[in-house]
Amino acid sequence: MSQRISGVKGMNDLLPPDISVWHALESAARETFERFGYDEARTPVLEDTALFVRSVGEATDIVGKEMYTFADKAGRSLSLRPEGTASLVRAYVEHAVAQREPVTRWWYAGPMFRYERMKTGRYRQFWQLGAEAYGVSAPAQETELIDLAVQLFRAVGLEGIRVELNSLGDPETRGVYLESLRAFLRAHRGELCAECQERTEKNALRVFDCKNPGCQAVLVGAPAITDALSAEARAHFETLQRQLTLLDIPFRVNPRMVRGIDYYTRTAFEFLSEDPVLGTASAVGGGGRYDRLVKELGGPDTPAVGWALGVDRLCLLLQAKGAIHAPRPELFVAVAEDMAADPALALVSRLRRAGHRVDLDARGGSLKSQMKRADKSRAVFALVLGSRELGSGEAQLKPLGGGEPVLVRLDALESALAARR
Ligand code: HAM
Repeated sequence: MSQRISGVKGMNDLLPPDISVWHALESAARETFERFGYDEARTPVLEDTALFVRSVGEATDIVGKEMYTFADKAGRSLSLRPEGTASLVRAYVEHAVAQREPVTRWWYAGPMFRYERMKTGRYRQFWQLGAEAYGVSAPAQETELIDLAVQLFRAVGLEGIRVELNSLGDPETRGVYLESLRAFLRAHRGELCAECQERTEKNALRVFDCKNPGCQAVLVGAPAITDALSAEARAHFETLQRQLTLLDIPFRVNPRMVRGIDYYTRTAFEFLSEDPVLGTASAVGGGGRYDRLVKELGGPDTPAVGWALGVDRLCLLLQAKGAIHAPRPELFVAVAEDMAADPALALVSRLRRAGHRVDLDARGGSLKSQMKRADKSRAVFALVLGSRELGSGEAQLKPLGGGEPVLVRLDALESALAARR
């Protein structure tokens, strides 16, 4: 036998029946985005490496350790996108969208790539559903986006997802906070891992991303960024909290949540679940405001806010609930004799053309094996077609879940099925 080739580590196949859960989430997301007035945008999975270095940040784990980067045949450095925000901003700037409309709200869905240590809910190819809004500096934009996520969770029946909020302040005032954080970290240098010692000098905020329990213990005593906000940033943060309360959206302020990406200004937020099916991968989404990024990537000075949800993680939650199943066929047509095989094929095609979900076993075979297949398909009704049925123009519509069969005319099957939907 030839040697089998396995899929790439950390990259999952999505197969039936699990895919039904993905479809349910994707269609609820599309409907929710439309209800909120967001339009879909699609960008390539490959981008110039510099795009992510300049936006996500050189000192982040994502850029420093996790990107799939390679040179193409012309020697350009390209990277598989580790996230969607940078690509969308690139497209927003490249197509001069700001000149056409003052406010732009986009959503996107697609695979992202990070070379991470794999465990439950953490993969090397994973899917995000994201939303980005450009042009609004008021906190109402954060409120709308958080409301959108919460309404989406509700639409698919996911309960118990918590919202955590923080404000990272403005870049002008962040310097003062970073000085006090650095002073604190230097005083605890001996208790920090080598990487955090380096982060202290290079990009001190990133120490909060460290998973090392020793560093986490030190950080409990670190100065809180929310104590060092400018008056404007504080007012912005307070308005957001007031608006979320107005919309009945519960939240918790967590001054140690800094997100693992450099582009955020002011608001940062995360959606968290304590469900054990996620293991330690409790964040089902995250986002925040990034008012500097559009300008830093060559566009006009444009405020922006967005989030991304982890589709794999949300689907793990939905699967554990077990509420979503693949759609069932309405009818399974079985063939009693060879002479009925072609008429059955024509009948099934006719019903499918009329919009019905109908199936048959193209292999033919014994009636018993076809009926087994009908049961397995979870079809609502079965219909056996033979010379008798073709001669009389009538057949029995047999409910597979039990109950009396009904005699129906073959030329009126469409209405018979529609009446029983
Ligand atoms: P992020 O927090 O890096 O943010 O990712 C968002 C979500 O993607 C996470 O909360 C998680 O659910 C999921 N995710 C991340 N990495 C993995 C992984 N390796 N395996 C499975 N799921 C994962 C961003 O990506 C930002 N672009 C969000 C944003 C949009 N900020 C502003 N706009």
